[in-house]
Amino acid sequence: MKLAIIGITGLVGLKIKEILEKSQLYIDTIIPVASKKNVGKQVLFRKKYYKIINCDNILDYHPDIVLLSAGAEISKKIVPILIQNNITVIDNSSAWRMNKNVKLIVPEINANILTKKDKIISNPNCTTIQLLMGIHNLHKIFKIKRLVLSTYQSITGTGKNAIKQLYNERNNIVMSNKEMAYQYKIDMNIIPQIDIFLNNGYTKEEIKIINETKKIMNDDEIKITATAVRVPVIGGHSISVNIQFDKSFKLHDIFSIIKNTDGVILKDDINNNIYPMPIDVHEKDEVYIGRIRIDESCKNSLNMWIVADNLRKGAATNALQILDYLIKNKILSK
Ligand SMILES: NC(=O)c1ccc[n+]([C@@H]2O[C@H](COP(=O)([O-])OP(=O)(O)OC[C@H]3O[C@@H](n4cnc5c(N)ncnc54)[C@H](OP(=O)(O)O)[C@@H]3O)[C@@H](O)[C@H]2O)c1
Repeated sequence: MKLAIIGITGLVGLKIKEILEKSQLYIDTIIPVASKKNVGKQVLFRKKYYKIINCDNILDYHPDIVLLSAGAEISKKIVPILIQNNITVIDNSSAWRMNKNVKLIVPEINANILTKKDKIISNPNCTTIQLLMGIHNLHKIFKIKRLVLSTYQSITGTGKNAIKQLYNERNNIVMSNKEMAYQYKIDMNIIPQIDIFLNNGYTKEEIKIINETKKIMNDDEIKITATAVRVPVIGGHSISVNIQFDKSFKLHDIFSIIKNTDGVILKDDINNNIYPMPIDVHEKDEVYIGRIRIDESCKNSLNMWIVADNLRKGAATNALQILDYLIKNKILSK
């Protein structure tokens, strides 16, 4: 199988390549794609060198499937061309996620809805993925009425330029405004803005989490509010989650459901100060949950803390799990 990775030089693209190297997925050739400045550079994959190409030439290389992680603008341009040529795309950007004809997939939750007709499959926002991994089984049993979310999102969620900004700040290297990933200093700071502001005062990131959660859970009735915050952590998003259920629950049932959720690890032992932190989830594919406790201020409510590696389960791992599902279930259009 020929797999094109668009955005191979980015944080997500590199992580996809790294995970694929060690995986059992049958890929005989990769087609590395990046922007024009990297065309011609060599990429090593499973002991073979491949030259980076640009999107303009991708059809000449006849990919069977494309993993796209180069941002929404590029996705909007290239995806129609790829699907016209019967090439399936798994897209990490937000470009198609809310399109009613495009499925938004977290394999543990809803891969079963995929069919051969799905030429473009969207990977959800990194924060949405880890949130839903933690709560989807609770929703099935106790029905979530309302979610109040505060996120603490790593700079790696912004891409490679954010890491450069943080290191430059730490080394007192001055950057031009154009080079900076954030308008403000990020080291020793937190920024309560991720993506642009919308008319209702929310950021686009906050609305993505809200809309994508409803779409994947297939439930428009859940009430959700979110505040998304950027923190100077290099890898690993955290979410403080307050959940109000329709039904009453026992805390030990919540622990048991989470413990038995595929892809989730319960790390909650306050007697020994054990809870998940970004530093511990680095390079892990699972989503970690701790600090589970009753919300004593509100009926049928609890709080929890969800942490995951945003480049793995939040992006690369989830996309590769989708690819694995497509291959194993013979769903690929080619
Ligand atoms: N980072 C995360 O945690 C995360 C999680 C979920 C989803 N995502 C999404 O994944 C995508 C990539 O994120 P990232 O963090 O990997 O960003 P990044 O580190 O900034 O990398 C961006 C990639 O896109 C490539 N690119 C830019 N312009 C291009 C063009 N005209 N043609 C082909 N490739 C082009 C870049 O190539 P050059 O190096 O040549 O410029 C680079 O490989 C974004 O849509 C992002 O929203 C990211």
